[in-house]
Amino acid sequence: MKICTGIAPVNIAVIKYWGKKDEKLILPMNDSISGTLSTDEMHAKTSVALSPDFTEDKLWLNGKEVSIHQPRVAVCLSELRKLAQQKKSGGDMVHWKMHICSENNFPTAAGLASSAAGYSCLVFTIAHALGLDSSQVSHIARQGSGSACRSMFGGFVRWRALPSELEGKQSDGEESEDLRRKQSEASNAEQIISEAYWGSMRVIILVVNDQAKSTSSTDGMQRTTLTSTLYTHRVHTVVPERCERMETALNEKDFATFAQLTMQDSNQFHACCLDTYPPIVYMNDTSHAVVRFVHEFNTVAGGTKVAYTFDAGPNACLYLLEDSVPLLLSTLVQYFPASSEISVPYVRGLKYSTTPSPLQLPSFTPQPAGLLQYLISTRIGSGPKILDDIPNNHLVNEQGAPN
Ligand code: DP6
Repeated sequence: MKICTGIAPVNIAVIKYWGKKDEKLILPMNDSISGTLSTDEMHAKTSVALSPDFTEDKLWLNGKEVSIHQPRVAVCLSELRKLAQQKKSGGDMVHWKMHICSENNFPTAAGLASSAAGYSCLVFTIAHALGLDSSQVSHIARQGSGSACRSMFGGFVRWRALPSELEGKQSDGEESEDLRRKQSEASNAEQIISEAYWGSMRVIILVVNDQAKSTSSTDGMQRTTLTSTLYTHRVHTVVPERCERMETALNEKDFATFAQLTMQDSNQFHACCLDTYPPIVYMNDTSHAVVRFVHEFNTVAGGTKVAYTFDAGPNACLYLLEDSVPLLLSTLVQYFPASSEISVPYVRGLKYSTTPSPLQLPSFTPQPAGLLQYLISTRIGSGPKILDDIPNNHLVNEQGAPN
């Protein structure tokens, strides 16, 4: 019997992935770039037990048993076993069944990239248990959920689309299988900026009070690729150039350019959603109020100090530098006050000792209390980690049942 436990981070894209060339392999239409958030505030945790005595693979998510036969989970397990066999790693364990328990330490319902952290953690932890090099399996995490491949590394990460020489050319039989394997291995993630390089980068997540169920990313992006003409322009013209400029801005620690590109890319992603037919609407009135707030804050602060970005939901993610955080937080709390009924801290996570007086924003009206549920203050952090040294830390016990 072997038991391993790992944790993996959430990532928030600054150049968005949206749309697949290949639904099964999850090959993206364009490159994307994201920041990996510190696991101190938010992470997925997975324990895997392998034993020759287990009779079937089993999976528990947040304490509830779920089917291990979901195609995306099944493909991750079979690819990991195949790779271990190829590399002659893991010995007999390759043939043993696994019991896997996984959970998030943040509310899944908040729609905060939980599948990215979850699949990255699953793949990273099993890869470790089977003795595989975890830096070489981002293409497997990608087949769980596209954005999960970026959570396999810390800092800022770029996920590359298929190089043009590997595109197309579908044929039959062995040749086709070989091509698909090469295609799958070629679209992977890599760290482009370490977490230490731009150590002052901070992130604040604004969890919007909203119960509405939105269109899933998987369904939404499929509809966009089929119907949006703006999206065609985005994929072929805008994103390739924007990725290069983003890498340069990160390398030069040029916050103003980084922030502008981040906001423009989020806006264009949501414009493509609106250009989808029927349209997809992820941002709500609170999200749009946050956009106006950030632009007003930057105007009054006399420079681009904060950037917003929104994924497939109404929650905002703000990127900013450490020295801007106290002023941003005091101003944000003033203009987006907590609900009077809140029973938990409004600002969670990283603490700052100074509380400057809020900026006065003449063109922005204070919002009604309770539009935001709470804020998570965090930073850019490192990639997934194995936590086997911590006693009593496993989510699964020696009998293969959840702890
Ligand atoms: C808007 O990775 O959740 O967050 O590959 O279908 O599982 P699937 O989609 P997913 O899409 C994430 C989309 C996004 C943008 C991004 O993270 O780049």
